[in-house]
Amino acid sequence: MASNTASVTVFHGAVINPVNLSLYDALPSALLCVASSGEILWIEQNVPDSMVQDVMARNGHILDDTVNFVQLKRGEFLMPGFIDTHTHAPQVPNIGSGGEHELLDWLAEVTFPMEARFSDVEFSRKTYRAVVRRIIDSGTTTCCYYGTIHLEGTKALADVVHEFGQRAFVGKCNMDRNSSEDYVEPSPTASIDATRDLITYIRTLPLLPASPSGARTNGGTRDPDPRALVHPIITPRFAITCTAPLLSGLGKLAAADPTLHIQTHISENKSEVVFTKSLFPECTGYADVYDKAGLLRDNTILAHAVHLTDDEMDVIKKRGAGISHCPTSNFNLRSGVSRVGEMLDRGIKVGLGTDVSGGFSPSVLTAIQHASIASKIVAMQSDSEPPLSPSKPRPSWHSIPFAKKQLPIPTLLHLATLGGAQVCNMASYTGSFAPGKFFDALLVNVREEAGNPSVWGVDVDEVLGVGRGKGEEEELKGMLEKFLFCGDDRNIARVYVHGKVIGGKEWKA
Ligand code: GUN
Ligand code: FE
Repeated sequence: MASNTASVTVFHGAVINPVNLSLYDALPSALLCVASSGEILWIEQNVPDSMVQDVMARNGHILDDTVNFVQLKRGEFLMPGFIDTHTHAPQVPNIGSGGEHELLDWLAEVTFPMEARFSDVEFSRKTYRAVVRRIIDSGTTTCCYYGTIHLEGTKALADVVHEFGQRAFVGKCNMDRNSSEDYVEPSPTASIDATRDLITYIRTLPLLPASPSGARTNGGTRDPDPRALVHPIITPRFAITCTAPLLSGLGKLAAADPTLHIQTHISENKSEVVFTKSLFPECTGYADVYDKAGLLRDNTILAHAVHLTDDEMDVIKKRGAGISHCPTSNFNLRSGVSRVGEMLDRGIKVGLGTDVSGGFSPSVLTAIQHASIASKIVAMQSDSEPPLSPSKPRPSWHSIPFAKKQLPIPTLLHLATLGGAQVCNMASYTGSFAPGKFFDALLVNVREEAGNPSVWGVDVDEVLGVGRGKGEEEELKGMLEKFLFCGDDRNIARVYVHGKVIGGKEWKA
């Protein structure tokens, strides 16, 4: 039972843990210990009920009231929380609207008018409270948010995220041209000054208590400070809405502080690429616009990247920038199908983005489903032998490049968790479970219970036994796959960030 004096929380039960692009651990009976600081202290695999006390004792804990012991039930498992590497908080009220447009018309007709409303700080605060709550309850433990051009409204977004306890980047959009009259900044200087103000504001939000072990105190690396939940991020919306002086000014701001992250859109839509090239004729292409401004580096997050040339992929890899793959949005706005497999083969960092409201779902689960379908489209169009043709001898799955096969479950899981953490340069402390990392996790429940739909359509006990012959590990992998493709927020019982429950179906304010 929960105890107010608990010094550690110990979970016993099924755990899913991503390892790399091709592998994850499915541990049917793990024991995982989290300190009150939110840090994972230790993980033990294969611990039957009868051995729980012994294994805890071996790790220096006795099962008394200083331990908050959580026994997971059949049909429940822990997994790392989702990392949404690209979304727009002020567009959540627009979800499901305007899908008949392509990007540039959609921005002008649907998106900019809604974002303009966030000049009203009270409207911003109220809307963002609903938005962030919904995103947390969808299982997103780390989120890369775009706000609007408004400084005060975007401060309100940072406040809400901080208050609700989500790990996040929050950026104020920079836009000094090619928007509507009521939704554009008056000059590059005004845009840069407001960005500076937001950075200062976010950096003065209270920090988390230092970790007692001191394991994660950012020992001189450029990772975002792990004691801060909310981080500022420079957010030139995209090249079209930024003049060259604005982009170079933001580049200077970034150069003065190598720890600052940068997020923007790149090569999402063919008309956008053509327009961008016409605005920056001196540049060799879209990526070069950002590169020349000093905005392409190892803490830059580039959303979409649907129409990149090979040379652009080369420069992105060289600079160490990461890609946010936003397949729901890419389908919904008819932008195209991103060559994610090729980026993975090249060793480019890739995570998933919901890109609300280009994407019509705030849930990373939907992005996973569409990433799978996008990769199947690419694989179907590739000239390689169908890798899964049962009648033909085939090379080992692992020897087939990602570009030529549908993304398998371990890869989809990786993109949604550890891959996203790599894109955010946070993989040293989130994205998977390991001693010294923070416990950013979901308690998933796939059984029919208290309004949760079973992901099988019938109760878990009716069907889990069917796969029992394959062993508990395979059974757990089946549960994960069902959750990823058939689950929703009703199956997310608890959302933990930094060891603390901040949302989920069981959470109450
Ligand atoms: N490009 C510039 N702004 C946006 C936006 O808000 N959404 C998407 N999908 N693409 C953009
Ligand atoms: Fe976007």
